Amino acid sequence: MIVVRSIKKMQALSRKLASEGKKIGLVPTMGFLHEGHLSLIKRAAKHSDAVITTIFVNPTQFGPNEDLNKYPRDEKGDLRKIKQAGGDIVFIPKATDIYPGDFQTYVAVEGITKTLEGAHRPTHFRGVTTIVAKLFNTTRPDVAVFGLKDYQQAMVLKQMARDLDYPIKIIVAPTVREKDGLAMSSRNKYFNPEQRKQAVCLYKALQRARTLVKNHRMTKTTVLSRAMGQIIRTICRTAEIDYIAFTDFESLRPVKKVKKNCICSLAIRLFGVRLIDNMKMM
Ligand code: PAF
Repeated sequence: MIVVRSIKKMQALSRKLASEGKKIGLVPTMGFLHEGHLSLIKRAAKHSDAVITTIFVNPTQFGPNEDLNKYPRDEKGDLRKIKQAGGDIVFIPKATDIYPGDFQTYVAVEGITKTLEGAHRPTHFRGVTTIVAKLFNTTRPDVAVFGLKDYQQAMVLKQMARDLDYPIKIIVAPTVREKDGLAMSSRNKYFNPEQRKQAVCLYKALQRARTLVKNHRMTKTTVLSRAMGQIIRTICRTAEIDYIAFTDFESLRPVKKVKKNCICSLAIRLFGVRLIDNMKMM
C-alpha cells in the first residue's frame, strides 16, 4: 500500500494510473475509520483497479462551536484497516497544503444545501464541497463512494459532480450499523457505555416510523414525527432534537404524506454529541 502526503505527488500518481488505463476509485474520509468506511473501500474496489482512500479532517466543514479540535484521530490504526480492506493508496494531505494562508476559493452548491443539515450548520456543505472538489482534482477518480448515513452530503456531492461536469460516477453505499442498530460513526466514540446505550434512540425512532407506515398505513408526517419524538425522549430523557424531516429522496423537498421514495432524516444532540441518521420509509 502506498501512502502519499503531498498534493503534487498524488496528482502525478493519479495521472500515471490513468495513463496505464487503470480505473481509479476514491473514498474520501476524515479518518478514525470504522466498518462503515471499510465497506466503502470494498465497494470502491469492486468498481476500480486502484482505490485511493483519503484521510483529512477538513476544518472548513466544522462550525465555530463544533468538534474540530477533539475530532478523533488514529492514523496508524487507519492505515492498518485500509490495508486489510484492500485499499491501494492512502492520501493524507496536510491542512496547510490544502488551505494555504492565501486560500480564497470555495465551491458551494445552492438549493439543496439550505435544508436539513444546511439549515443547522450554515457553512458545513460549502466546506464539504470545497474539499471534495479539491480531492477530485487531485486524485482524478472514475468513481467515488460515499455513505448513505450522510444522505444529504451524498446528494449535494452528486449535484456538484453534475453541475461542474466531473466525469465521476458517484456511488452511495448503504449505512453500516452496530448490532443494536446505531449507525456507525466516528463520533460514537464520544459516549460512555450508558450514553452509548441511549444513542440507539435515533434508530429506534426511525424503525418506529417505518413500522407505522408499513404495518399501520400511517402516512401523515406530523403524526410520525410526534411518535418518533416520544420514542427518542423515552430512551434518552435529555435528547435535544435538531430536526426530524420527511423529504423526497431526490429533491429533498418536505412531504406531508409518506409515499414511495420518501426518506426520513433526523439530527439529535445526545450528551453534547450531535448524531444524524436516516431511513427510507417504503
Ligand atoms: O463524510 C465525511 O467524512 C466528510 O464529510 C468528507 C466527505 C470526507 C469530506 O471531508
